Amino acid sequence: MIYWKKNPFPHTGNTLVFFTNENTFKKDLRLQQVDRLVKGRITRKIKEHHFEGKKDESFVVEGGDIYEYVIVYGVGESLRNSIANVNAIARTLKSTSLNLFYSPFMGKDYFELGKQIALGFQLSNYSFDVYRGKEEVKKKHLVKDLYFYSEQDLPKEFGEGVKWGQVLSDGISLTRNMVNEPASHMHPETMVAKAHAIEKASNGTISVQVLNRDECQKLGMGSYLGVAQGSDREPKFIILKYKPVILNLVQDLKKMPKQVRHDKSAKKICLVGKSITFDSGGLSLKPAKSMETMKMDMAGGATVLGIFDILAKTGKVAHEVWGVLPACENMVSGKSLRPGDIVTALNGKTIEVLNTDAEGRLALADAVAYAEKYIKPDYIIDLATLTGACMVALGEDITGIFGNDEVSVKKFIEKAKKEGEEICELPLYKPYLTFLKSDIADIKNIGGTGYGGAISGALFIGEFVKKNKWIHLDIAGPAYNSGAVKGVIGKGGTGWGILTIMSLLT
Ligand code: BES
Ligand code: ZN
Ligand code: ZN
Repeated sequence: MIYWKKNPFPHTGNTLVFFTNENTFKKDLRLQQVDRLVKGRITRKIKEHHFEGKKDESFVVEGGDIYEYVIVYGVGESLRNSIANVNAIARTLKSTSLNLFYSPFMGKDYFELGKQIALGFQLSNYSFDVYRGKEEVKKKHLVKDLYFYSEQDLPKEFGEGVKWGQVLSDGISLTRNMVNEPASHMHPETMVAKAHAIEKASNGTISVQVLNRDECQKLGMGSYLGVAQGSDREPKFIILKYKPVILNLVQDLKKMPKQVRHDKSAKKICLVGKSITFDSGGLSLKPAKSMETMKMDMAGGATVLGIFDILAKTGKVAHEVWGVLPACENMVSGKSLRPGDIVTALNGKTIEVLNTDAEGRLALADAVAYAEKYIKPDYIIDLATLTGACMVALGEDITGIFGNDEVSVKKFIEKAKKEGEEICELPLYKPYLTFLKSDIADIKNIGGTGYGGAISGALFIGEFVKKNKWIHLDIAGPAYNSGAVKGVIGKGGTGWGILTIMSLLT
């Protein structure tokens, strides 16, 4: 839990966290006050360690009679990650509570401050323990409470920020859970169940429709169904719609926050998420090592569901938001798509499938074509763990963004930077379309040069978006963390994109 109180100086509590930075720590009267309380241990440590309050520099001292420990921490790039790191330290100390206080360098945007504190604390407490023994889970120590103290009463925006940060964290955790579930437990049917659960909890603002194989066939989605045909699991084409409540009564309107009033500037936005619940590569089989993490190939779809979970709980979004999840498995069997096969997409285009491992673009081709034809949104944003090439280019932290509308791409990047989600624009370089020319069909699904793989993947999807403003996010790297814990990003699914997209929608 997170609590906040007016109290200029916390004289109780388990672990005191003293955030500082290079500019303030030497002249900080409060640090000197804490130092006296802990019998000069802080001054001694500062000298011993040549501590300068640099980013992410920290030390711990015993807290004397008042606290159990004091953690002195130089705030890093973001307060969110600093709180996550402090939480990790406190966990190893077996602390039961973190006690922080407001410092002027935290700024005056109290809503944002509350939000970041909630995100930092809640996301760093996340772990995926579904398949661990109960005893082991019980033994694991978590810091239960965070107290935030301030000299003056905090404005109500702070509390609103904390609440919003908690709603965001819950959505991100839902996405992480789905991504972390193995393909034995997370398949198209399970994604449908999640979508329905979100619908049920939405008080009628979200509705879900699911197309089965036959219905997709009737609409002509041969490209998506081609990917699905090797699997014993049925494909599920999931469509979600969020419509903000339209208020007619004047007195109701007065009660509601400004944002939810349905106004003419409200847009229709369609989020498309790659939802391959397992990517074996198909007959163009992946090597064993590359297959190890391929349960995460539905991260795009899981991210869209995380966003809908948040939409279900908030009245903050005035736009109409749609989600399209072409869910299926890419498997090997006697029914699998063969390299060289030709499939026909919803828009009538024929595709020569030269590599069955480039399946994401096949599923997405029908999904974006469906969105354009039947949903007719103002914007399409697709999220896809699309190419290893994007990871080669940008590494594991950074999403590649492509788009056919400069203004939208710029706006997205701006928001992402503000939210602390790493992103870099890559070009939709038209001349490379020639590499996608097929000898016998309208297009083929790989470039075949071995170069510029993230670009050809994006260009391929772009061939199925003809009218809409469209953004493509290649999240192959940042959707999943197979390395060490980085601030609020633990191992496994990350939920990359939710903060940026929610910030755009609100
Ligand atoms: N799902 C993979 C991309 C991927 C790789 C995501 C690693 C996350 C981590 C995608 O379906 C794929 O296999 N892409 C191929 C495309 C190639 C055959 C043109 C790739 O990147 O190798
Ligand atoms: Zn693949
Ligand atoms: Zn894939």
